[in-house]
Amino acid sequence: CGIVGYVGHNQAYPYLINGLKKLEYRGYDSAGIALHKGSELQVVKKSGKVAALENAFGTLDTHSTLGIGHTRWATHGIPSDYNAHPHYSNSGNLALVHNGIIENYASIKEELLHKGYTFQSETDSEVLLNFIEDIHINNECTLEEAIRVALKRVTGAYVILILSKDHPDTLFAARKGSPLVIGIGNGEHFLGSDASPMLEYTKEVVYINDYELAIINPDQLILKNLGNEILTPYVQKLDIELAAIEKGGYEHFMIKEIHEQPQAIFDSLRGRLDAENLSITLSGLEKIKDKLTAARRIIIVACGTSWHAGLLAEYWIEELCRVNVEVEYASEFRYRNPIISSDDVIIAISQSGETADTLVALENAKTQGATIFGIVNVVGSSIARISDAGIYTHAGPEIGVASTKAFSAQLTVLLLFAIKLAEYKETVSEDLRKELIKELSIIPEKVKHILDSSIDNIKEIAVKYQHATDFLFLGRGYNFPIALEGALKLKEISYIHAEGYPAAEMKHGPIALVDETLPVVFVATKDRVHEKIVSNMQEIKARSGKLISVVTEDDQLAIDLSDEHIKIPVSHEMIAPILAVIPLQLLSYYVGIERQIDVDRPRNLAKSVTVE
Ligand code: G6P
Repeated sequence: CGIVGYVGHNQAYPYLINGLKKLEYRGYDSAGIALHKGSELQVVKKSGKVAALENAFGTLDTHSTLGIGHTRWATHGIPSDYNAHPHYSNSGNLALVHNGIIENYASIKEELLHKGYTFQSETDSEVLLNFIEDIHINNECTLEEAIRVALKRVTGAYVILILSKDHPDTLFAARKGSPLVIGIGNGEHFLGSDASPMLEYTKEVVYINDYELAIINPDQLILKNLGNEILTPYVQKLDIELAAIEKGGYEHFMIKEIHEQPQAIFDSLRGRLDAENLSITLSGLEKIKDKLTAARRIIIVACGTSWHAGLLAEYWIEELCRVNVEVEYASEFRYRNPIISSDDVIIAISQSGETADTLVALENAKTQGATIFGIVNVVGSSIARISDAGIYTHAGPEIGVASTKAFSAQLTVLLLFAIKLAEYKETVSEDLRKELIKELSIIPEKVKHILDSSIDNIKEIAVKYQHATDFLFLGRGYNFPIALEGALKLKEISYIHAEGYPAAEMKHGPIALVDETLPVVFVATKDRVHEKIVSNMQEIKARSGKLISVVTEDDQLAIDLSDEHIKIPVSHEMIAPILAVIPLQLLSYYVGIERQIDVDRPRNLAKSVTVE
């Protein structure tokens, strides 16, 4: 979910509605806004996207200088008007928006039902609000105190913003687990789940930490911990430009971000790779060099597309650094009672830096003595802040729900990491080290070449196969994670069922699906297992499957075998996967477009999953 809040001297509504549009990538099942109107709190909420909320406001009077808003990704209760936020308390004196999950809401709800409270929604959020109200009334304490008492009793994750009828120029906000940024303006404060809504108003922001409560007036930001001690807000300067979060002439953020990849990769190499001296400098890695070179094991923890980057990193790091690497889904890792020791280094990969499962997995590992190395895109995000050291991917803001440029930047940074660690450990030959650095430095050009030369071809393939009900994506070795990523992309934005598989493993199951209607995408660039994958292609062809292949441009054999092919430039086998993913992103995009899917906001997904 995404939340926004405004308190100041200007109208709150424009900031809130535009802010929600910027945060829609975080969820878009329903949206709502509450405005403080002196004698009343006005809540307008609607299921559907933010545009539906804007319509619902229509000509309503929006004169208010204090308000909160929410765009929802449903957890408790179906997307509907009544489950949408903000919620009122029973007295109607309070309104709240909430991002996160209150785990012990059922027992609290039980207590409140006994006391005669009623609920308009199925949400855990409404329970939390009434719990706060109940404490406020029965303990005869201030609202601020009631919030503190309530938050000490709840388990789970939250960012909450609360308006009270009795406080015409104060907003109450608190965080645990889910993100909250407060922008500081001139006599006004802007709140958001991330900084994107406030970029056009201010560059000065405070990132709120877990267990902090903010009491915000137009001219004052008071920060406290749950023990009621005053804290000093740490004001940081943002260096994102507004243009970076706008579409800039492209029809969708996704295609804009696909096209930004040469730049994103270049930015992720900038200041780190010196192509002239063939050297790599990674200050983040330097910081825990001893720990890393001595590590008995590296554990990579991530979710979704970031997990696929981790899987490829496993191949790279094991090959180059000769150290054992394990790649874990954060959600499994955190609940499995994993064996972690202080000799382990954990690499966390996350675009948003806020994914709840990844974050909690790291917190758990940290308490067991592991060192955390973060590979994160969003500067200042929660995962970046709990990491002992790390490397930012510097891909720039990624808004499209399906990750593209963040993925290629993650891969670039992970390969830099692997080469540098191998250099420290002396597990890589000088020749190979130099060759990889040289090749990495020209990756942006090669990606640009693919973007310039393959789009018409890919569009045709998309038109031809748009009605398929299933797709299989196959790859071996370094290209296996790319096959998984290709399948995930297609699923996400075309709603076509797709499976990624190791090409040889398909004989143990998926081959049963193959007939003349099944498109099989092979990621088959030239590498040490190329002959093997060509045999796999033959096996599919012999069963009349349709072969769509991503191939090295001089590979006539694979080209001749395929029904469709997309060429990528010749490159080292370790680098090729960074190139091979680009055509797969484009293929998903154009299939999604043909099927008239809202590719930036596909159903049910959210870009930043801040609930477990
Ligand atoms: C969501 C997004 C994916 C992303 C995953 C992990 O599912 O839709 O694109 O890969 O979360 O997110 P992270 O921000 O941790 O990389």
